[in-house]
Amino acid sequence: MELCVIEGDGIGHEVIPAAVRVLRLVAPDVQVHHAEAGWDCFEKTGSPLPEEALNLALRCGAVLFGAAASPSYPVDGYYVPVVRLRRELKTYAALRPARYLPVPTARRGVDLIVVREMTEDLYVGHEHTEDEGRTGVSEKVITREATENVAHQAYLLADREGRSKVTIVHKASVLVQSDGLFRKVALEVGAEFPHITTEELLVDTAAYWMVKDPLRFDLILTPNLYGDILSDMAAAWGGGLGLAPSLSLGDGVALAEPVHGCAPDIAGKNIANPTAALMSLALLLRYYWHLDAAGVRIEDAVRRTLEDGIYTADIGAVEPVSTTAFVDAVCDRL
Ligand code: NAI
Ligand code: MG
Repeated sequence: MELCVIEGDGIGHEVIPAAVRVLRLVAPDVQVHHAEAGWDCFEKTGSPLPEEALNLALRCGAVLFGAAASPSYPVDGYYVPVVRLRRELKTYAALRPARYLPVPTARRGVDLIVVREMTEDLYVGHEHTEDEGRTGVSEKVITREATENVAHQAYLLADREGRSKVTIVHKASVLVQSDGLFRKVALEVGAEFPHITTEELLVDTAAYWMVKDPLRFDLILTPNLYGDILSDMAAAWGGGLGLAPSLSLGDGVALAEPVHGCAPDIAGKNIANPTAALMSLALLLRYYWHLDAAGVRIEDAVRRTLEDGIYTADIGAVEPVSTTAFVDAVCDRL
């Protein structure tokens, strides 16, 4: 078992070492290798994801990634490294669970998982400008193959976890060709799992219900962009971005990463919440290496730490603890 660790930028340098420390306790046999990627790496080397990092990721198969800072305007030679990494690894399904954790910011009873297609949709990056820059065009691409892959992952996961309902989220009423294909193929795959209830919702309605009654959801299956947005909404019910984990799966490969970004506003202060990174590692252990006991140990230790009222500042504690003090407490409980 080999793991490629990429901290990235900002709080990636704080939350990812925390996860590696916990990994050494629960699964000491995993060999850890480090690589660099992100904005700082781009400034230093001219590449946001150097070949060495990419090759190491491909060789290991499993990657733990922090977050990379990406400007919202075009920069020559820069691209979002994790989007490239997902594409090169061909991780086509992202699992983003939102489960209640014992913190005041979480909604009791929430237990849902967003399964987000990860290789296409508007994220294919087919973009250009027209009309001398007065018009920007981005292509939305949905294929049968990618939809079959993500739908199978979603239904197999629902089956394995004993989840009884899959909600297919799309906007096929308007985007008849692209989302229409996603809907059709997802329903076809769903028909292979007759014991699991399938329903469908338009994405705006799904957003409404995500705010109004998140407990109505069990597993959401959706294209890339809607999944990005809905999973961040779900993360709010799970207690906040500092707690939201994700795992992207492909055939024989996996990429674990917290949902949050590199949080430049709090970086370098040792106050970031490492829970999202720790829970992402737990997902990797459970769903990729099938080391269920090790994954559950992490989840239990984090839960007991929070139950004891030990929180970082994002949870709104009166006396928040630092990132390192939180990890100390988790390690004590392990
Ligand atoms: P962000 O997730 O970095 O931060 C949003 C807010 O949540 C900030 O107030 C931040 O302090 C807080 N926050 C996030 N994670 C936290 C944690 N673990 N503990 C405590 N507080 C936490 O999103 P934002 O501000 O939109 O983006 C900042 C940078 O991160 C941008 O350059 C963006 O491109 C990048 N980003 C990278 C991602 C990736 O590499 N996967 C994902 C999202 C954003
Ligand atoms: Mg996001």
